[in-house]
Amino acid sequence: MPEESEAERSEHVDDVGMSGGSPDNNTGNSEHVDDVGMSGGSPDRKQLWHGRFAGGPSEALQQLNDSLPFDQRMFREDIAGSRAHVTMLESVGILAAAERDGILSALDVVEEEIASGTFEWAASDEDIHTAVERRTTELEPAGAKMHTGRSRNDQVATDVRLWTLQAIDEITDLVRALQWTLLSQAEAAGDAYLPGYTHLQQAQPVALAHHLLAHGWMLNRDVDRLADARRRTDVSVLGAGALAGSSLPLDPSISQKELGFSGLFDNSLDAVADRDFVADTLYALTMIGVHLSRIGEELIIWASTEFGFVTLDDAFSTGSSMMPQKKNPDIAELARGKGGRLIGNLTGFLASVKGLPLTYNKDMQEDKEPLFDAVDTVRLTLLALDGMISTTTFNTERMAEQANSPYAAATDLAEYLVANGMAFRDAHAVVGEHVRHALEGQGTLVDLVSADERLGEEAAAILQPGVSVTRRTTHGGGSPEAVAAQLERFRTAIS
Ligand code: ARG
Repeated sequence: MPEESEAERSEHVDDVGMSGGSPDNNTGNSEHVDDVGMSGGSPDRKQLWHGRFAGGPSEALQQLNDSLPFDQRMFREDIAGSRAHVTMLESVGILAAAERDGILSALDVVEEEIASGTFEWAASDEDIHTAVERRTTELEPAGAKMHTGRSRNDQVATDVRLWTLQAIDEITDLVRALQWTLLSQAEAAGDAYLPGYTHLQQAQPVALAHHLLAHGWMLNRDVDRLADARRRTDVSVLGAGALAGSSLPLDPSISQKELGFSGLFDNSLDAVADRDFVADTLYALTMIGVHLSRIGEELIIWASTEFGFVTLDDAFSTGSSMMPQKKNPDIAELARGKGGRLIGNLTGFLASVKGLPLTYNKDMQEDKEPLFDAVDTVRLTLLALDGMISTTTFNTERMAEQANSPYAAATDLAEYLVANGMAFRDAHAVVGEHVRHALEGQGTLVDLVSADERLGEEAAAILQPGVSVTRRTTHGGGSPEAVAAQLERFRTAIS
């Protein structure tokens, strides 16, 4: 391996964060591209499987094959898996207590080195599993026994499961935080109301709190989906070996307990081949992205001059390089745009897994980048949108002005007639005719309604500003009292 490649490898370490890590640290590979040789490679690169091979790997193979640039962010999970494995090996008598302790101490050093950025990556470190085992063995000769009864196939599945569990917990907390922001804005909205829309045409006035909580309930289903994905992720697969278990007396239930997994695999083939939990998590994340894109779109519309329903805080808006008057809702637009990227991660991953024969195939290495990218994308989008929504000013006078069109109360008029005994279809026609006549200029809707003996003054009062919104008092409806009950249900749901 040429020396400069080693140096480039050591750059990766700077990018390793304590949690999460940097989404950019998978760019390292492309720097090597000019060096790719068609043949040759590095005769001195000693692979894990070097015994079987006479020559070293080609450069092209290494660059395509290596996953270290992106899987190094699972170093804590990899080390946790190794701790559990050597603890199990000692429990069943395969390792001596002193060997286990030596390996555990070396693993502590390796974790510290990687976390602090002093770890020296070697050219032969094709992935995080290889790197951790190599360095552990350098520090402690008994490290040569740590891979007993284990394969990178059950090891990587374990690492990804552990990483996914913490990611699900982190994203769940951020979704909850956004729900609390929506709740506090809904409470602050009081009795403010705005037009509700279908087809983006004014439909019926609704409380602003009602509208904000609609987004909050969507996010509640996301939390539920994350919990569902978590349940299927929370299964230990360490001890499945490469695919078929082991002839050694391993006890996978020990490593399961060590790692705190709730479940244990039933079938070693399925254990190493299963990536359903990645798909489940990507789907849950994608749905969050889809929901955030809908919130984003509403904020974009509401912030337009034509609507003017919200004024965005400067800290969460951008300006134009040319047009001095501009204030742009970039965060909301990115929230809308990132949905596409998340859908790409989900569908790309599913396409990689589709049709794979049992058990492990290298295609499955393609699970990590979409998963990491989806988590990074959703994390950032949630944080930015939360900040944007919590600092937004709702222009409630402007909203009311738009919602006060008497036409928006037409359905309430029809329901008034129904309450007085008319069939709904007939009531719809009566009110529809008044609307048409008003639009044709035969009089204001209020005058036409007042003059109709089936409706009269009492019905015309429904057309007054702010009245119709108070009339839809049914469960989950848009009136202030129905919304007050809903606010309590929402608070309970997210507490
Ligand atoms: N880097 C690999 C991955 O991410 C680890 C498993 C490799 N297993 C193997 N048999 N080559 O999937």
